[in-house]
Amino acid sequence: MPVDPLDVDWWREAVIYQVYPRSFADGDGDGVGDLRGVIARLDYLNDGSERSLGVDAIWVSPVYPSPMADFGYDVADHCDVDPLFGDLATFDLLVRGCHARGIRVLLDFVINHTSDQHPWFVDARASRGSPHRDWYYWRDPAPGGGPPDDWTAVFGGSAWTLDVATGQYYLHSFLPQQPDLNWEHPAVVDAMGDVLRFWMARGVDGFRVDAVQQLAKPDIGADAEVVSLIGEGRIDPRVTGHLRTVRRVLDEFPGRVSIAEAYVPPEELAALYGGAALDAMHLAFHFEFIRLTADGAYTPWDAPRMAALLRRTQAALPPGALPCYALANHDVPRFRSRHDADGRGPERARASALFLLGVRGVPCMYAGEEIGMPDVVIPAERRRDPGGRDGARTPMQWDRSAGRGFTSGHPWLPFGPIEVDVAAQLDDERSLLSLYRRAIWLRKAEPALRGGDQAIVHEGASTLALRRQAPGARPVLLALNTASTPARVPLDGEFARVLLASDEHVQLKGEASARTLVLPALAAAWLVP
Ligand code: GLC
Repeated sequence: MPVDPLDVDWWREAVIYQVYPRSFADGDGDGVGDLRGVIARLDYLNDGSERSLGVDAIWVSPVYPSPMADFGYDVADHCDVDPLFGDLATFDLLVRGCHARGIRVLLDFVINHTSDQHPWFVDARASRGSPHRDWYYWRDPAPGGGPPDDWTAVFGGSAWTLDVATGQYYLHSFLPQQPDLNWEHPAVVDAMGDVLRFWMARGVDGFRVDAVQQLAKPDIGADAEVVSLIGEGRIDPRVTGHLRTVRRVLDEFPGRVSIAEAYVPPEELAALYGGAALDAMHLAFHFEFIRLTADGAYTPWDAPRMAALLRRTQAALPPGALPCYALANHDVPRFRSRHDADGRGPERARASALFLLGVRGVPCMYAGEEIGMPDVVIPAERRRDPGGRDGARTPMQWDRSAGRGFTSGHPWLPFGPIEVDVAAQLDDERSLLSLYRRAIWLRKAEPALRGGDQAIVHEGASTLALRRQAPGARPVLLALNTASTPARVPLDGEFARVLLASDEHVQLKGEASARTLVLPALAAAWLVP
């Protein structure tokens, strides 16, 4: 079914799928994925039948012309496609192909910085008096030389790089090849607004807005780091202001969506939505499950921690705001590997599918998670990313042929284990892919899962049950056991049937109001009355 342009609130009930284009499918045999490759795989994503995954939208990581210092997050031209990925005509075909299948298309809006090769920055550095000079942040060296202060960049090192010709330092929250734009300058705001209009006029349905936390800088001279990408970040009120400006541009086009990327705790999320007015981003990523916490570890797969997080999230979000959950993306190790210290990552990955698609909010899944791709150990000579994130970016494994159905050439990053592939899982009812497919299609059929309210109805030492309910529809219970031993969840008689389970040994015992759900180790289930 094609997308319905009148359905302007489509995103509230959508399942979003992140395509990292370098690694999804290679249409021209150069070993790097491209837009033609994505187009060739659209039926896998959604062909209207339950044989396909059934996702409602794709978010495509950057495909703009770029020197690729940060693999496209260093944009040299906001309004074109890098020849590595295709061209604008191919992009239009992608949008058409998606829309015909009911898939919306979101682009990555790299708001905080450009490439140092972008014409704006090339002009800015040409002289101190250049028209674009103030589109970026420039400072004189400290008295006696050296960077103006000791701010550090997210990828390490000083956040300031000296431009020798003009004798001043420019600011970069990320790599030196990614100078930060000055969002306090009205011309920057206007120019970036026009970028959004350019893509929306081509039919793009929205944007994942990159690194918004960095949009406001600490006061110059303050003895502070540039807020780190991974850490206890806060959202400055100036960030909300800039996001409101972005939202006003999106509102010129009906039915578009924006999703903010910021690695902040749930308490900071409200500021991304614009508070109670909900006039900034439509959605904000909830990264608490993939963010390195203060103790330097990822949030463990642990029911009490999850219950506490859900409660914090519920309390922090303004009424009407939906969280956008991600359990993986191109910046963090794969879920299965992150939770595999005891070798049971694959079981947790199955349960996580029912959690992600069953919890209240908009789920955003990362390509390859649905087949349980592990993080791949990359030999030193093949490492590409200055941020060390290659392991989560290896090519999608479509089949077990030499090029894994990804490429007819030599892949830009090595493949993972050969036995993890789409083709085998498509035909296996018990595979992770089949579980994802069933969960996504069942979610579409259950209003309670798509858009219902949520109440925590049970918490145990290793168990959690969430009751989802929408007006006029049957409720659904999401139950989880995060222990490596079986556990029981008492039921009050309302739920009598297992709709979907991550483990075939999930059982209901007892009768009527004395019913108990028996969850094997690390299992999750959806129940209905
Ligand atoms: C975001 C992207 C990441 C990139 C960074 C700088 O966090 O997800 O891949 O390196 O922003 O643009």
